[in-house]
Amino acid sequence: MASRSPSQRNAHWFRSTVVYEVVPRSFRDANGDGVGDLAGVTEKLDYLADLGIGAIWLLPFYRSPWRDEGYDIADHYTVDPSLGTVADLDRLVHEAHARSIRVLGDLVTNHVSLEHPWFQEARRDRASPYRSWFLWSDTAKEFSRSRVIFRDFERANWTWDDVAGQYYFHRFYAFQPDLNYDSPEVHAEMLRVARFWLGHGLDGYRCDAVPYLYKREGTRCQSLPEVHRFFRELRAMMDAEFPGSVLVAEANQSVPETVPYFGDGHEFQMVMHFPLMPNLFLAWGEGDPRRVRHVLRATLPTPNGSAWAYFLRNHDEVTLEQTSDDEREMFLWLYGRDDRTVINGGIRRRLAPMLDGDDASVLFLTALVLSLPGTPFLYYGDEIGMGDRPDIADRDGVRTPMQWTSGPSGGFSTSTPDRLVRPPVIDPKYAPDARNVADQASRPGSLLSQVRRLIAWRKAHPAEAVGDDFSRSNGEGPGVLAFSRNGGSTRTLHIYNFSRDAASGSLRLPRALEPAVLEPGPGEASWTLAEGRLSYRIQGRSFAWFAASTGPK
Ligand code: GLC
Repeated sequence: MASRSPSQRNAHWFRSTVVYEVVPRSFRDANGDGVGDLAGVTEKLDYLADLGIGAIWLLPFYRSPWRDEGYDIADHYTVDPSLGTVADLDRLVHEAHARSIRVLGDLVTNHVSLEHPWFQEARRDRASPYRSWFLWSDTAKEFSRSRVIFRDFERANWTWDDVAGQYYFHRFYAFQPDLNYDSPEVHAEMLRVARFWLGHGLDGYRCDAVPYLYKREGTRCQSLPEVHRFFRELRAMMDAEFPGSVLVAEANQSVPETVPYFGDGHEFQMVMHFPLMPNLFLAWGEGDPRRVRHVLRATLPTPNGSAWAYFLRNHDEVTLEQTSDDEREMFLWLYGRDDRTVINGGIRRRLAPMLDGDDASVLFLTALVLSLPGTPFLYYGDEIGMGDRPDIADRDGVRTPMQWTSGPSGGFSTSTPDRLVRPPVIDPKYAPDARNVADQASRPGSLLSQVRRLIAWRKAHPAEAVGDDFSRSNGEGPGVLAFSRNGGSTRTLHIYNFSRDAASGSLRLPRALEPAVLEPGPGEASWTLAEGRLSYRIQGRSFAWFAASTGPK
């Protein structure tokens, strides 16, 4: 039952939408077995529609032993029984589309689970046709320049396998053997997998661990030309067979290595803005937006038809791979003072606890990612300022059950606590009775109500994300980031004062708007409009949004 996707009617839908990341096992348990499921996500679509969400990104829902939240796939062509059935997925997609919400899956191309029948066959028999689907070595000496990513857990990218009598290559956990993309069958199989779920109505994919598919001796084995060729081919297939479907790259690299994933409009429509993310937090901690301005200047505008995917937090740690040693030290000093939260050189914390549970700070940074030219991705629970569990292993502490009510398990499940997929937050400042959807939905001043207002205002004032005229204000103070965005007949103006001191400045409006009228939006600043110039005074640590359009002549 593939429902006709609304994406087919508007290929640029993603530029004006807000994406919401869902960890299906932690969102809502509809059948009461303690594990969140697809039916649970369907149950909560009205909540997401009401929040103004235009697309959800579902973490892997395929059959898996769940040693890495489903990024260890044991069968690409079915839904894991703990999450439901393929029919449940069809229903979720159908119901989402009925609410104009698109659904993105997670395409994990780099590796599979150790338990995948492909690997099981391959390791057992050197003559198996699957042997060449993986990378083997007798010496473990090849590709020595490829870095170990999960460096707190793995010491090498090669692991000896007794059954196979050889080492096999894995870029991530040892239980995730890498596929060999020099095998034409692997290449073809992954296109088949992508087609399969698009055929079930998915509107596209967030692509996992994009840079690492190909390995070449003497290189760092990342972002090789072959990688770009593979994703261009995938994109071409999708454009031809599933028009309007999109690809989002997870490529956690430097600016010069990340930007090419847009591929002049022929590769990924969206690329996660990893180079910007840590700088947003650093700038906030330092009270100075200079570094944000710098990264934006280096990365905007994006090639035609594409958009940056902005995010503050996700299901992983805050990765600090794109920061210098000094920046990393500063970041850890600002946000990583609890040693338990430091992992793989980054920090496993949710947004609210990083910001000491201060709603105004959460709102400031959320407003910023909602107003930059591109597509914001919100992480489930951050809209209510959910907390985390630094005492739980790996990154599971930032994947605790969504808090719907103040009830036991935060209304996530009706099961007994011992069966919950992971325990709820217990810190009284963030526990379900302190922060939950039901309570915040009924309070106009709550974080949830304010985030909803930001999203509604953004929707009501669409700006062009592409070819956007992203201009800076003249005369902004050192602590202020101010910019305007072109929305055709309207211009939106966004002012962020990172510093603790009040600041004044001005933004020039385009002549074409004169005589302009100004409509203040979310946030707060005092202002005057004279001779086509908005002059403002804004308190420390606060933001203000405006819309300017042509008034009566
Ligand atoms: C990506 C995912 C992460 C996963 C890893 C290996 O980085 O975001 O959660 O562990 O890939 O698949």
